[in-house]
Amino acid sequence: MRLRLLLLLAVCGAAAGAAARTLSLRGRWRIRSGNGSLELPGDVPGCVHTALLQQNLIQDPYYRFNDLSYRWISLDNWTYSKEFKIPFDISKWQKVNLIFEGVDTVTKVLLNDVTIGETDNMFKRYEQCSFGWDWGPSFPTQGIWKDVRVEAYNLCQLNYFTFSPIYDARAQEWNLEIESSFDVVSSKPVYGHVMVALPKLQTQQTQGIELQPGERVVELFVKINKNISVETWWPHGHGNQTGYNMTILFELDGGLSIEKSAKVYFRTVELIEEPIKGSPGLSFYFKINGLPIFLKGSNWIPADSFQDRVTSDLLRLLLQSAVDANMNTLRVWGGGVYEQDEFYELCDELGIMVWQDFMFACALYPAGQGFLDSVRAEVAYQARRLKSHPSIITWSGNNENEAALMMNWYGIHISDLPTYINDYVTLYVKNIREIVLTADKTRPFITSSPTNGAESVAEGWVSHNPYDKHFGDVHFYDYISDCWNWKIFPKARFVSEYGYQSWPSFSTLEKISSEEDWSCGSRFSLHRQHHADGNTEMLLQAGLHFKLPQSKDPLRSFKDTIYLTQVMQAQCVKTQTEFYRRSRSQVVHGEGHTMGALYWQLNDIWQAPSWASLEYGGKWKMLHYFARHFFAPLLPVGFENQDVFFIYGVSDLRSECNVTLTVRLHAWSSLEPLCSRRTRRLVMKAGKATLLYKEPVPRLLKTCGTCTRQRCVVSFHLSAAGQLLSPTNYHFLSSLKEAVGLHKAHITAVISQRGDTFVFDLETSAVAPFVWLDVGNIPGRFSDNGFLMTGKTRTVLFYPWKPTSKSELERSFQVTSLTDIY
Ligand SMILES: *[C@@H]1O[C@H](CO)[C@@H](O)[C@H](O)[C@H]1NC(C)=O
Ligand SMILES: *[C@@H]1O[C@H](CO)[C@@H](O)[C@H](O)[C@H]1NC(C)=O
Ligand SMILES: *[C@@H]1O[C@H](CO)[C@@H](O)[C@H](O)[C@H]1NC(C)=O
Ligand SMILES: *[C@@H]1O[C@H](CO)[C@@H](O)[C@H](O)[C@H]1NC(C)=O
Ligand SMILES: *[C@@H]1O[C@H](CO)[C@@H](O)[C@H](O)[C@H]1NC(C)=O
Ligand SMILES: *[C@@H]1O[C@H](CO)[C@@H](O)[C@H](O)[C@H]1NC(C)=O
Repeated sequence: MRLRLLLLLAVCGAAAGAAARTLSLRGRWRIRSGNGSLELPGDVPGCVHTALLQQNLIQDPYYRFNDLSYRWISLDNWTYSKEFKIPFDISKWQKVNLIFEGVDTVTKVLLNDVTIGETDNMFKRYEQCSFGWDWGPSFPTQGIWKDVRVEAYNLCQLNYFTFSPIYDARAQEWNLEIESSFDVVSSKPVYGHVMVALPKLQTQQTQGIELQPGERVVELFVKINKNISVETWWPHGHGNQTGYNMTILFELDGGLSIEKSAKVYFRTVELIEEPIKGSPGLSFYFKINGLPIFLKGSNWIPADSFQDRVTSDLLRLLLQSAVDANMNTLRVWGGGVYEQDEFYELCDELGIMVWQDFMFACALYPAGQGFLDSVRAEVAYQARRLKSHPSIITWSGNNENEAALMMNWYGIHISDLPTYINDYVTLYVKNIREIVLTADKTRPFITSSPTNGAESVAEGWVSHNPYDKHFGDVHFYDYISDCWNWKIFPKARFVSEYGYQSWPSFSTLEKISSEEDWSCGSRFSLHRQHHADGNTEMLLQAGLHFKLPQSKDPLRSFKDTIYLTQVMQAQCVKTQTEFYRRSRSQVVHGEGHTMGALYWQLNDIWQAPSWASLEYGGKWKMLHYFARHFFAPLLPVGFENQDVFFIYGVSDLRSECNVTLTVRLHAWSSLEPLCSRRTRRLVMKAGKATLLYKEPVPRLLKTCGTCTRQRCVVSFHLSAAGQLLSPTNYHFLSSLKEAVGLHKAHITAVISQRGDTFVFDLETSAVAPFVWLDVGNIPGRFSDNGFLMTGKTRTVLFYPWKPTSKSELERSFQVTSLTDIY
């Protein structure tokens, strides 16, 4: 799609003063299709699809097969036009710019020269970007979804201002490097002074400045008062996210004064790649403020195909959900978009570390001069826009392009390989890396993900196997092997992508489908699945441990399949994540020291089967409830190796703690635990995974009456002084399809209100695995869900995101557990 901007200006006289004038061009514009057959009003910021939808010219583009029927929209050429009066005489200003904020960088057009005219070519590389790929709907990105305005000024104008807090380890003090860029349009130098103040740190600095005509960068170096102790910013779960207000005031010739304020956070980040005892290769982990931190979280993709629909409320909801699931990191995936400022502001505030890819993904990009010029502008702009955010802890040049090249995903001829490698190094190393490291000295840069880090550099920036477990990060997907078997997972240094698919809930699908779509084999079900064989793979994996839905009723079977795929996904990602977390302090056969687990993917772009743990709109899938447990700061992890059952205690805490471990055996046929044993005064070391328990399975079973692998299940938790310190975890001794003694569970709930929260008092008639509470379209989340109910009663809370009532909840409430689908 090509977009053109047509501006018709009218001017009226008004005297120019010293101050700048800004005219926002937000609001109603006219939109015209290529041949003029369609003409409609539309908002800026906004996009063509949204405008067409608002005028009822199209239906919801996400409804059924509309992504196919509406392809013509992105293939057509659209012209946005607006007639407006500039309430000042532009000839009286030394410079008048039309500022257009694109998705990758800001474009400025000198308006004095194009008083009335057309401008296109403002829309840059974005068609290269692939967020409609494998898993998303088929809309190319488009959009005027950011600001458009006219700015007029005399003397000079502040283009941008950015800063980096820098720690001087030798002097043990914090400094602030502030960079501001001015466009000086006066023919003579402009003089003045600048004053920076951080009141809470009793820091203030004033200095004179002299701006020569032209584009001028002013660099300030502010020493933070050593007398005041600076509280650092910490990731969620490790401390506070303290920030300090800063104001910066430029007072210049001609009475021109420009004031800016910002929040400054202080923290350091290091990527540690060093030899590990007993293991070939190098470590790959992050230290924040000197403390090694295990990165736990997920991957972020665009929250909608139409970015103008991504509201503040939606961003807050999704990011709060990440924190509520005990995550501390999100990787902003290179196939999406550079997110809006508010995304990073929220991450700063919530303590979410961001691994920021540059927007290059799964493709071999050109390295011609024109392309490089556009990339250079983009990267320089993004680096200075984002570098003040403490949440961003690393830059990454691209997603999977080192792997794509070296594993030859695109079947390039061997004789062409040197050319492609050369293009790769030109783009990511000689351009992107160089620009980023020049602009930002405060965080590491890796060229790709996955990569072998320092080893890739040593091999000429591309490693023969970027998936090497002894170096850097890996991405790992295996849908076929049994995911309950931890031995299939790579014991790597850092795992930045892994995952399994599931269907979103019926209430989410219902809104964008019709009755004939509601079966597993429908055209709709196939159409929404954008991963080849995805639907088959989900059932194949589920079938390894569960009986598949057997109902002859297609709707019943569809709903059961949705439920079962969510069970499968939650259980698979749990097993895998727990494996990574317990591998943090281990080296086995030279492998281990795993310090990061970011599953694919947090959020969803539309309503379809995918790897996400949050559905489109934010509803929690079973996986997200599981994540809250498997990312808990203190977690007992159970697993078997050669018929021996082990429990490791994983601690993300900063200090050692003494715990009691309780291990219980429950029979599937009874709501009373059969056997229970406690081990007291176990020491859990800070930031380590420690072996807490080890027993051969036959012995464990023998000590407990009639238990067999099929009849019983193990649960375990950590406590101290009678207080629960961890989630209650469990270990299945056999596949659930072989379980003996499971009865159909009849589960009831009594709902009551307590302030803004609703209380669900549950009662079951039998042990129930994977109890799933659903209130359909009522937005909110439960305190826990998808759990194993081994006792007769349990209380669960519901936190609504919008006002609701007890009777509304009662009407929508449905509960499912595993035996319901048999
Ligand atoms: C104008 O363009 C639309 C969309 O591409 C097309 O469907 C329509 O036939 C065209 N109309 C004329 C008169 O060419
Ligand atoms: C859109 O514009 C491009 C370039 O001018 C042209 O090649 C293409 O045919 C146009 N598409 C339509 C649907 O008119
Ligand atoms: C720090 O404290 C010392 C002693 O009270 C004082 O002399 C000095 O001026 C203070 N420094 C600043 C920058 O406030
Ligand atoms: C974090 O903030 C709380 C509340 O302001 C304060 O009580 C606590 O001491 C702070 N913790 C640290 C480690 O600074
Ligand atoms: C910091 O700035 C914010 C936003 O301007 C303001 O709401 C807040 O009160 C300020 N905090 C302090 C401690 O001055
Ligand atoms: C844990 O227990 C040991 C003795 O078993 C004791 O020395 C240590 O201080 C305890 N640690 C904590 C954090 O209570």
